[in-house]
Amino acid sequence: MFAHAVIIGSGSLTLAADFTPLDVSLETRYGGASARPLVGLLGSTKVMLLARHGIPHRIAPHAINYRANLAMLQTLGIERIVAVNTVGGIAPEAKAGVLIVPDQIIDYSWGREQSFSDSNKLYHVDFSSPYDRQLGNDLADAAQRARLDVIVGGVYGCTQGPRFETPAEINRMDSDGCTVVGMTGMPEAGLARELGIPYACVCLVVNPAAGRDGDSIDLDAIAIVSRAGMERVGRLLVSFFEGLEGLEGLEERS
Ligand code: HPA
Repeated sequence: MFAHAVIIGSGSLTLAADFTPLDVSLETRYGGASARPLVGLLGSTKVMLLARHGIPHRIAPHAINYRANLAMLQTLGIERIVAVNTVGGIAPEAKAGVLIVPDQIIDYSWGREQSFSDSNKLYHVDFSSPYDRQLGNDLADAAQRARLDVIVGGVYGCTQGPRFETPAEINRMDSDGCTVVGMTGMPEAGLARELGIPYACVCLVVNPAAGRDGDSIDLDAIAIVSRAGMERVGRLLVSFFEGLEGLEGLEERS
């Protein structure tokens, strides 16, 4: 079976070139998930890929049914999740093309269904380390093995989208301590925590955030950086899953 899932976003369907759709229902008690998961091999590891924007890419960040996506992965027995997110760079080190494994989140999104809590169950989960520390360390080790430069640590600021931010919003996020800005990091990470599924994130910086380099955001340049960067994300994931396979007694890790 498949224990590992990668939730992929904009520009990452190239990772799934040889993958095939799993024949499962998208319906969950929270509504429909974004797409049928794709299954295949990353390196020699069986991995499930879920395209959070749907296939073809059509669901805006604020309209993604994050709860259905996570609930479906849980039902399918997924035990750990790596999220791939393209982001804008706010901090000087977050230049276009850079890979970052963030360790903190600030959530500026609003109006999204952000919890599995209902009248029967209330989730007050610890979110001091919003990303799973062990998986974050594993991603850092995987980057070293694959000789890929990755910045470990940083703050992911999640905005509502689908529009990009204003320079004033980015300045505010900068003074809040955000390293990068994306639109889909939350509530995905929080929902994974509620379900107790270890979850980590790899960000590919695809553009300088608004106002950080010139008067506007260049969408054509984003597509180019994204294409080149996803090849490195693919290598990072292969190395990451190879590392997991090499570990004995994985389930005993805390
Ligand atoms: N802002 C928000 N989300 C993004 C950006 C950005 O500049 N680039 C890629 N995703």
